[in-house]
Amino acid sequence: MHHRLAIIGFGTVGRGLAEILHKKKEDLKQRCGVEFSVVAVSDLLLGSVYWEKGLKLSQLLNLANEGQSIAAYPDGIKGWDSFRVIKESRADTIVEVTYTDLKTGEPAISHFKAAFESGKHLVTTNKGPVALCYRDLAAMAEERGVQFRFEGTVMSGTPVLNLAARTLAGTTIKDIRGILNGTTNYILTEMEKGLSYSAALKQAQEMGYAEANPEADVEGWDALAKVIILANVLLGGDLKVQDVPRKGITGLTPEDIHRAAQAEMRWKLIGKVQRENGSVVASVAPETIPNSDPLAGIGGATNALTFTSDFLGPVTIVGPGAGRLETGYALLNDLLHISVGDGIGSKDFW
Ligand SMILES: NC(=O)c1ccc[n+]([C@@H]2O[C@H](COP(=O)([O-])OP(=O)(O)OC[C@H]3O[C@@H](n4cnc5c(N)ncnc54)[C@H](OP(=O)(O)O)[C@@H]3O)[C@@H](O)[C@H]2O)c1
Repeated sequence: MHHRLAIIGFGTVGRGLAEILHKKKEDLKQRCGVEFSVVAVSDLLLGSVYWEKGLKLSQLLNLANEGQSIAAYPDGIKGWDSFRVIKESRADTIVEVTYTDLKTGEPAISHFKAAFESGKHLVTTNKGPVALCYRDLAAMAEERGVQFRFEGTVMSGTPVLNLAARTLAGTTIKDIRGILNGTTNYILTEMEKGLSYSAALKQAQEMGYAEANPEADVEGWDALAKVIILANVLLGGDLKVQDVPRKGITGLTPEDIHRAAQAEMRWKLIGKVQRENGSVVASVAPETIPNSDPLAGIGGATNALTFTSDFLGPVTIVGPGAGRLETGYALLNDLLHISVGDGIGSKDFW
């Protein structure tokens, strides 16, 4: 089977996917029977190229990694903007990996809608649109008969949404709680080693875990978006940003960390979703949890989620929550689901 892709946004994750598709080309053909070709790439900074016969990914990656415009690619049509690529390219699936905006969801929401209107599948790792308007987007995709997949929006390539939807099919998930932000978990782990909050944050920035403006992570916004996705996609909720109480880690002191350690406890930024009196509720806040809790043992930038269901009790999955190849893999996983048709459409999640 031949699956043609157009990538919108050629930053860390877009290039991560291109690298995986390049390295795994033969393997994917042999083992999965799928031949992927990238027919278009559009990026604000790097420009755009559309070549219906399929772009040579090594050549494209070389240009991008050297900071050159991808319009320097020798073949194809240059200069199309993202919307023209989405609407007019002969791609089967649009891979949307532009930046996340948790206030407006743009430009991604408009990209998603343009893809659905053009009868194209959409895969993404962009949390904003899924957290802000999952139901509308899923309904639109269903109406147009296309797939809308977003495994990488929660815990990157660690298979959280697929785990709940497929592997735990038939159980009723009662609650979900976990560590959904690697930056804050790294900071808390370093504070346990004796660093102050500001020294731990500085170290996280030097390691590339935290942005120059760390607010989205340390104030809990990033975890909030993921909690809303879990609530609305897996538990059938209809939560909005304003429905979810949110507190970050900025108020925690070395004394708080020390007192918890003396009581054999640890501070973690916990995202929670549960069913309560017939509705779905969620929150993000720092909590002390006993050292015996599986989440207490999760150190550094690693993420983890515990699903509690009627038949199994707690089941915990631990894995990366970010990274070029890790997040690129989430996209590959979604693309393979579309290609080999496992029967999971956007409506089948709960
Ligand atoms: N990196 C991770 O580990 C990770 C993990 C999970 C989820 N995600 C999500 O995945 C998405 C991509 O992340 P990333 O790390 O790859 O971000 P990134 O490195 O900032 O790349 C985003 C790219 O999209 C481009 N872009 C922005 N608006 C565009 C538009 N209208 N048309 C075409 N291109 C546009 C940007 O161009 P400019 O540079 O010119 O603005 C940039 O090159 C984000 O939504 C992020 O939240 C990332």
